[in-house]
Amino acid sequence: MQKVTLNNGIQIPIIGLGTFRAKEDDVYNSVRIALESGYRHIDTAMIYGNELEVGKAIKDSDIPREELFITTKLWNSDQGYETTKKAFDDSLKKLGLKYVDLYLIHWYKGEQKAADSWKAMEELCEAGKIRSIGVSNFNVNHIENLLKTAKIKPVINQVEIHLGLPQYNLQEYCESNGIKLEAYAPMQSGGIFTNEDIKKVALKHNKSIANIALKFLVDRGIIVLPKSIKEERILNNKNIFDFSLDEEDLTILKKQWNGMRLFPDPDNCSF
Ligand SMILES: NC(=O)c1ccc[n+]([C@@H]2O[C@H](COP(=O)([O-])OP(=O)(O)OC[C@H]3O[C@@H](n4cnc5c(N)ncnc54)[C@H](OP(=O)(O)O)[C@@H]3O)[C@@H](O)[C@H]2O)c1
Repeated sequence: MQKVTLNNGIQIPIIGLGTFRAKEDDVYNSVRIALESGYRHIDTAMIYGNELEVGKAIKDSDIPREELFITTKLWNSDQGYETTKKAFDDSLKKLGLKYVDLYLIHWYKGEQKAADSWKAMEELCEAGKIRSIGVSNFNVNHIENLLKTAKIKPVINQVEIHLGLPQYNLQEYCESNGIKLEAYAPMQSGGIFTNEDIKKVALKHNKSIANIALKFLVDRGIIVLPKSIKEERILNNKNIFDFSLDEEDLTILKKQWNGMRLFPDPDNCSF
């Protein structure tokens, strides 16, 4: 699996299994299948309510811990200095791990909350409980506010990115600051599968629609988090390294940009 090097030298597999809206048995099985089939990167969050099952699947996989890249996230109501430390410890316990590879502030909730949470995350990093820290759903102005007080730079900004919302400007800003973009909802949370244009590109290459949607992002150096609880799809979603998109494909794919947002704009998030 191709890897991306973060600004602290740590490497992250460019494809990770998403686990949002995957519950209990489903998430346990999907993480087991993913790990058995070669995935080494799993994305969860406290708010998904599945850290316990993700952790159990990791443990039962018997894969050496250092081969895995595990991300979880700090929920909005837990932001703040002390509350971040407590929320992190709760997540770590549920996951049954000694450390996580990446801990993200899930949404921007104002400058003070972000700064206080970040300070706690930096200390957890220094204590060896987190290898890398980053943000999610941060616009440029949110990152600039965070950088005013941050001692450690975020390694990643995990945001909604797909063909309808390619986030070119955010990518340019983040990369000029050493921050990698990570795409959530890379298949439009399932909405991509009825798109006839993408279907044509997929047929041309004898690949799936998922493969085309993910390849377009990975070719831009973006880390992707496809979610599935179905074995066939989990296996298929990572088969994107044996073909190339050509100019004709890129013209069609770039035309899908319509500004579609499935999740709130981080400047207007009410939860
Ligand atoms: N930071 C954030 O605020 C945030 C927000 C949203 C998501 N995320 C992360 O990003 C991950 C991905 O986002 P997402 O789950 O919203 O959407 P997604 O990965 O774009 O799409 C998932 C949907 O597509 C279906 N699917 C997956 N592979 C398929 C295939 N090969 N063929 C047909 N259908 C397929 C899945 O159904 P089945 O499961 O039934 O296969 C599911 O309904 C999440 O799971 C989560 O880890 C983060």
